[in-house]
Amino acid sequence: MKRTPLIAGNWKMNGSSIFVEEVVSTFSSFNDQHVDVVIFPPFVYVETMKKLLSNSLVKVGAQNISTFSEGAYTGEISGSMLKECQCDYVVVGHSERRVLFHESDQECLQKVIMAQTHGIIPILCVGESLKEREHEQAFSVIEQQLMAVISDSRVNSQQLMIAYEPVWAIGTGKTATPAMAQDMHHFIRSLLSTHLGQDTAQNTRILYGGSVKSDNASMLLAQKDIDGALVGGASLVIESFTDIIRAASSVKRV
Ligand code: 13P
Repeated sequence: MKRTPLIAGNWKMNGSSIFVEEVVSTFSSFNDQHVDVVIFPPFVYVETMKKLLSNSLVKVGAQNISTFSEGAYTGEISGSMLKECQCDYVVVGHSERRVLFHESDQECLQKVIMAQTHGIIPILCVGESLKEREHEQAFSVIEQQLMAVISDSRVNSQQLMIAYEPVWAIGTGKTATPAMAQDMHHFIRSLLSTHLGQDTAQNTRILYGGSVKSDNASMLLAQKDIDGALVGGASLVIESFTDIIRAASSVKRV
């Protein structure tokens, strides 16, 4: 089974109109078929980027989606609005949203369903904290976060991507070793296989996130069950991001 690697750039609450222009001019004619690229700018830049990248294979996604369809929910953005902006993907359950904005597994489930209802592919983030890893709870935490979503029969498992982002590796410069990341990715794939079947497990892309840089991307992406990267800080430096994309495009799996 061949899973095309996917490199996603999560800008978080960073960027500006000038940075949008720089990124768009870098990727305006991107046409590498060996790697999928998705950029997740803040909401306000999604529509512009999508339009400006219409001749490029680079896709654009949103960093969040409301659990509500419409109404008096100040500050929220709905699935239909994202669809109108031709948003292709949405990040769900990023640890920053789980920790800082107290998003629960139940809300993540609702967001996944909402995205899929509008034809947007959710990337469900899962990840353990340092304390949980030190207490040897990493695997049970990931299992709980994953099962909260995949065990619900309303979720379309064919239209779902997973990102394993250990919280202790995000923005810290500490990356999981390739072996450590591969172990968790293998575990996630085995859960997918047990609960959704072998075919779905083999078809689902599982990304790694947490201090992915140009100098560690190749080793991580070479692992059998690592199908791409969700890149934070390094996606804000165009040269680093393009280096990571190049690494993914030429990677040979071990
Ligand atoms: P960093 O690459 O900055 O560690 O961020 C990872 C991340 O949270 C991507 O969603």
